[in-house]
Amino acid sequence: MSEQREPVGVIGVGWVGLVTAACFAELGHPVVARDILPEKVEALSRGELTIHEPGLADLVRRNAERLTFTTDMAELLDRARLLFVCVDTPPTYSGDADLSRVRSVVEELPADSEHVLIMKSTVPAGTGESIRRDRPGLPYVSCPEFLKEGTAVADFMNPDRVVIGADTGDEEAGDAVARLYEPLGGEILRTDVASAEMIKLASNAFLATKISFINEIANVCEEVGADVGEVARGMGLDERIGSSFLRAGIGYGGSCFPKDVSALKMLAGNTGYHFQLLTAVIEVNELQKRRVVAKLQRHLGSLIDKRVALLGLAFKPDTDDMREASSLVLAARLQGEGAEVVAYDPVASERAGELLSSVELAGSAVEALAGADAAVLVTEWGEFAELDWGEVASSMSRALLVDGRNFLDPEKLRAAGFEYEGIGKKQEIGAPS
Ligand code: UGA
Repeated sequence: MSEQREPVGVIGVGWVGLVTAACFAELGHPVVARDILPEKVEALSRGELTIHEPGLADLVRRNAERLTFTTDMAELLDRARLLFVCVDTPPTYSGDADLSRVRSVVEELPADSEHVLIMKSTVPAGTGESIRRDRPGLPYVSCPEFLKEGTAVADFMNPDRVVIGADTGDEEAGDAVARLYEPLGGEILRTDVASAEMIKLASNAFLATKISFINEIANVCEEVGADVGEVARGMGLDERIGSSFLRAGIGYGGSCFPKDVSALKMLAGNTGYHFQLLTAVIEVNELQKRRVVAKLQRHLGSLIDKRVALLGLAFKPDTDDMREASSLVLAARLQGEGAEVVAYDPVASERAGELLSSVELAGSAVEALAGADAAVLVTEWGEFAELDWGEVASSMSRALLVDGRNFLDPEKLRAAGFEYEGIGKKQEIGAPS
């Protein structure tokens, strides 16, 4: 039965490309996924994954017969008409998105190509129009991705919505993409290319705005003795506001929000429009990562030669992604203040090691915390809730913990002998209760 399904081509086997390829294979489509890096293609062909994403390795192995990895563009073009472009569009120094990889994919398509180019990579609004101008006759569809790292497979299989942007003349291409997603059951929104591109950027920018907003509320809560968790709960019960993305913490990170917020701000700026709100969203996020240092200083005074343990390094749990992780800024700031930084992450240590100079990487949370003058919970990995905090307290030089994600139970920590500080909670300065 699988051989009757429309073959799918994927260009760029990063995180988005691999999830897309594996999930379409799981839905029964023959999939050819092409990447320019031979070592990546060889590893994937052996069933070895280069990224940590729950459920993905199983999917790749289970669908090995339907899923081919190659470096050869000709093989891809030969075997699939529908081509998902999943190459990365990293920020340039100016904050604009770097479209060079997208452009080289387009250049690789033969002039008389009858393929359908389906843009999954996040690109500024207007990119589709310029590609269509350069390559008239090449069917073009914008189909932005809304996957979250850590739950990407589940998000793909149960989408809230699938956005399909196709302009006049490309209706059939849009229909072909819609058919691929129909079995998943999410709402399929058909629109034009520029609107589809804007939906992606606006969605990420809005979610980032929600986070920066609740982080500012948290900072005010600390001043007035309110608890941001309670405030967010009360706000979220208003269905116009909604309860998601109102978790205060030490700022958003990852490969998407920082890049997309800045790309949208730049996109607006390039048209002569100053997107003031996003400037503040970015600034609040930067400052939020740094506030933890001030919290530690309030308790410890100078941080010179103080040993600070960071629990978690990845930008969020269930991923080893270190891109724009708050831990990077925090570690650098702590070192800048003269602290000695030790860190532990269940899966991101290897990647983090390449980025963090002079940070001691411990083999476990218990090892990182032993002898430390303070701890900061940076990433809310489930295993941190399971630690024997009483034992940890007695192993530390000073049982002080700043919970950067409001993840641990303050009462439990205090009962274990900790001075505990969260984000957006009444501040506790002085001896443990
Ligand atoms: C985000 C979007 O949620 C996806 O819909 C989108 O497809 C993706 O970007 C993308 O453009 O590729 P992701 O970056 O994987 O997904 O991670 P999120 O779960 O959205 O978290 C982003 C950051 O915000 C993390 O650092 C997280 O800790 C932080 N966050 C999230 C908060 O600080 N508070 C919250 O309430 C929620």
